[in-house]
Amino acid sequence: MRGVVAFDSVFGNTRQVAEAIRDELERAGHQAALLNVRESREVPSEGDFVFVGSPTRFKKMTGRSKRLMRKLDAKAWASKPVVVFDTHSEIPTDPAEREKAIKWIEPGAAGRLSAIAEKRGLAVRGPPLRCVVKGMKGPLAEGELDKARAYASRFAESLR
Ligand SMILES: Cc1cc2nc3c(=O)[nH]c(=O)nc-3n(C[C@H](O)[C@H](O)[C@H](O)COP(=O)(O)O)c2cc1C
Repeated sequence: MRGVVAFDSVFGNTRQVAEAIRDELERAGHQAALLNVRESREVPSEGDFVFVGSPTRFKKMTGRSKRLMRKLDAKAWASKPVVVFDTHSEIPTDPAEREKAIKWIEPGAAGRLSAIAEKRGLAVRGPPLRCVVKGMKGPLAEGELDKARAYASRFAESLR
């Protein structure tokens, strides 16, 4: 199968997740092309699947990733898997801190991208992949790229 892994990224963390997904899909025998929405306004219209990823910023996805999700042809993608992923800050372990922070983290960019896709009748394959970054700019927390690879591997398996 062949598809696109579209992403936005300011500091490079979401790009790393996108690359890990692409690598894993290709390792599983599929073709996957990266699409950086900062460099191209192309909207994928062909293929068997599409991933759309964004950093979570001010609770939301970036404008560019939102645009792509709104522009995906609902007819072309209605019955093909659309997968969303994002990066976000760490969830504090202290309950009081968690309570304050959680509205900034959940549902985050991935949840909002999913909501747009679902509203448009696209076949969102859930639950989304959400990867944690340390601090505000990253790097990715330990194990997050492995999590992304495992997620992509399960997805690749589901395409068989
Ligand atoms: C201006 C700004 C706003 C942010 N807002 C949030 C937020 O609301 N929720 C959250 O979980 N992380 C937030 N973060 C952390 C980002 O999620 C983090 O920078 C991003 O995951 C890194 O991905 P990137 O390297 O692909 O840009 C924010 C970071 C910046 C710089």
